[in-house]
Amino acid sequence: MPLFDRTFYNRYRREAMSHAVGRLLMVGVGPGTDLRFIPPAVTSVAAVEPVAAFRRMAAALARRHHIAVDVVDGVGESIPFPDNSFDSVHIGLVLCSVDDVAATLAEIRRVLVPAGRLVVLEHVRGDGTMGRFQDLIAMPWSRLACGCEPNRRTIDAIAAAGFDTSGLRSIPRTLVPPPCTPHLQGFATLADE
Ligand SMILES: C[S@@+](CC[C@H](N)C(=O)[O-])C[C@H]1O[C@@H](n2cnc3c(N)ncnc32)[C@H](O)[C@@H]1O
Repeated sequence: MPLFDRTFYNRYRREAMSHAVGRLLMVGVGPGTDLRFIPPAVTSVAAVEPVAAFRRMAAALARRHHIAVDVVDGVGESIPFPDNSFDSVHIGLVLCSVDDVAATLAEIRRVLVPAGRLVVLEHVRGDGTMGRFQDLIAMPWSRLACGCEPNRRTIDAIAAAGFDTSGLRSIPRTLVPPPCTPHLQGFATLADE
């Protein structure tokens, strides 16, 4: 993963994270790679991660980089923080893996302040042949890759959850191989508030 990240992913991680401001929550922080890209506009960091080994890795990485972060046990479908607690919520390669995308986005809405930002870097379903290939391979891929479903229509789900998606862009081609391409990057805001 570290070599893969350095080679393919870090620039996308950094660009996505540059949209975070204020009190930041990271959902599915994993081993904490994105912690290194938190911009100065962020004033505090909390993280939710269901896998204990990842929580330990993220906490260790944060200590090494002198980043104050509270990494707590939890899932996106039931975020263990009160309403309106965060100015930004970051999801990095997470919506492909959660059990319930709509429930996770509803929880993110709940913990965001009304003018809050959903900061996004996700791999998503492509169009045309790529999309059809991802549909075909989704089930075996998910078994091999810890529940990751490469054919999720994530931008539609974010819009359906009530976010304005105009700050999101598709990155059609990266060096990341199929089926984990194309990518969706940027930020979404609550549409009607
Ligand atoms: C592909 S990894 C990405 C980790 C990290 N965000 C990154 O970019 O390196 C997917 C992460 O989502 C987490 N995850 C899986 N199901 C989840 C859920 N329901 N709620 C929150 N996180 C979840 C996994 O434990 C894992 O850390």
